[in-house]
Amino acid sequence: MCGIVGYIGDKKAAPIVHQNLKRLEYRGYDSCGIATYSGSSRSSSSILLKKEVGMIDSIHEEVNLDGLPGNIGIGHTRWATHGGVTKENAHPHTSCNGKIALVHNGIISNYLELKAMLEKKGHRFKSQTDTECIVHLIEEKYDGCGRNIEYATIAALKEIKGTYATIIISADDPDMLICARNESPLLLGIGENEMYVGSDIASFLKHTTKAVPLDDGEYAVVTKSGYRIKDIQSGRELDKEILEIDWSDEAAKKEGYEHFMLKEIHEQPQTIANALNVYPEDIQKLAGMIDEAKTVYMIAAGTSLHAAIVSEYWFSNLCGKVVYAVDSSELVNKGVVDRDTLVISITQSGETYDTLAAMRFAKHRGAKTATIVNVIGSTATRMADHFILQSSGIEISVCATKTFTSQLVILLRTALELARMQGRDVSKIEAELSKCSEYIKEVFKSQDKIKDVAKEHFCVKNYIYIGKGINLPSALEGALKFKEITYNHAEGMSGGLLKHGTISLIDSDMHTVAVIPAAGENRQKMMSNIQEVKARGGVVIGITSGEPVPQCDANILVPGCSEIISPIVFAPAYQLLAYYTAVSLGRNVDKPRALAKSVTVE
Ligand code: G6P
Repeated sequence: MCGIVGYIGDKKAAPIVHQNLKRLEYRGYDSCGIATYSGSSRSSSSILLKKEVGMIDSIHEEVNLDGLPGNIGIGHTRWATHGGVTKENAHPHTSCNGKIALVHNGIISNYLELKAMLEKKGHRFKSQTDTECIVHLIEEKYDGCGRNIEYATIAALKEIKGTYATIIISADDPDMLICARNESPLLLGIGENEMYVGSDIASFLKHTTKAVPLDDGEYAVVTKSGYRIKDIQSGRELDKEILEIDWSDEAAKKEGYEHFMLKEIHEQPQTIANALNVYPEDIQKLAGMIDEAKTVYMIAAGTSLHAAIVSEYWFSNLCGKVVYAVDSSELVNKGVVDRDTLVISITQSGETYDTLAAMRFAKHRGAKTATIVNVIGSTATRMADHFILQSSGIEISVCATKTFTSQLVILLRTALELARMQGRDVSKIEAELSKCSEYIKEVFKSQDKIKDVAKEHFCVKNYIYIGKGINLPSALEGALKFKEITYNHAEGMSGGLLKHGTISLIDSDMHTVAVIPAAGENRQKMMSNIQEVKARGGVVIGITSGEPVPQCDANILVPGCSEIISPIVFAPAYQLLAYYTAVSLGRNVDKPRALAKSVTVE
């Protein structure tokens, strides 16, 4: 997804903007650009600009992004929405006179009418983007606002409908950046006699750990020595809390691993331990909220949705409480949400558009909200009545791994807490959960086996992942990991559903991955499903807890554990299977095509 950064200070801006953009590469993009201003006072010179289609490194090689002079700059990585992937559509965009430049994340919904109005007034558009209308609108307002960029920007923003995080520089007001936010993340980073702006904390983490997140409807005037934050509509100045971010920049390095994904998979013993250490008071508060609510929705997208689905089983099996896991983009269509409802969002980034939109919908209906989130200061943390930080550390690979298992641990702890409040004895499960990090270390002993399986089967184009009960979501998540980074077809379903249609696809180019618990009825049922596949000549790879299953063509073994905690233990095994298959296929593991780490548009 698009990333935006800005810098103002005494240093040369372009190399800093360039490096800060590189820290947002993990979010996925197709083109990038930087604009700077080098005049020291009001002068007639224009903004300087370099932008191209492609990856930052190759663009830099071609045009030397660092060559732009000046101590004030803005940059953008674009993930195309309105208008194709072209140099013209890349940001920054500039006004007709070339004196104002702007970068923008989000979608301007009334851009067609604004564009028509501005064209009538003589503005010449150079791109097909919705963004460009903002910079022309600011230019249009400039004279009427006393030639003051702050006032012109605010006047323009009041006429704009849609979502934005935007940063503006002006050659006529060279000592400041103006930035504003509505439903797209934006933060200020506070340095020593210098200031940073970014759509993601990771962009400026190398320079400062002090950040101030903007909220919807706010703008900031940023100079090298400080900032003022105001409400766009009322102009009222706001006093905002400064957050101290405890992530280190070192965490954003590969530390000898070939890919971030592999590093993050291997961090799970530690991140699970962190999730086990999340304050009990925070967990108790969430359990209490669930207990009090008449209806509970767990809303999420992608991998986080699979964590939510696992929790449905935990809450019903351990506490007799029904919670509904809902794709956050569908809550508005099927949720029955009122004042007695609790809506819990699960979102590692805290910035997923659909999830935030569902939270807004819930708040609007008077529901209580909570969120389980990895990023401090993210929008979800500021919207929710209660939030739990999962403490997984920064996750760079687009493919979520460690944040998923941390979400699971927190959700299981919450279900156990609720069960305890109901007078149930959960000590055995708690004792086993506390061993989870050790179980995960055991899974890593199967890494060579997983690599071999991947090498043997990577040419197969189609996979069905099957699971039963609480490991149905493991099958869904295993298939998601697999398809997002291998680009091979994979779909997850319950073992029971397989025979209702999909089994007709079984052939030599359709393998089955079966998630098999260590014991119990669901192990037996999985055996039957495996037999059904084998009877049709299918190949079955078992991700098997405890003893191997002889009917499987291969067994990837994970330690024997109780079924209730097994979704946490199975995860690293299918994550590694997806990883090594993608590596065998030569895929761009950390930045799979067309995907983004956090999806901040509708
Ligand atoms: C994107 C990412 C997924 C992630 C999903 C939800 O699609 O590629 O890995 O699971 O967003 O993200 P969230 O930050 O809300 O958990």
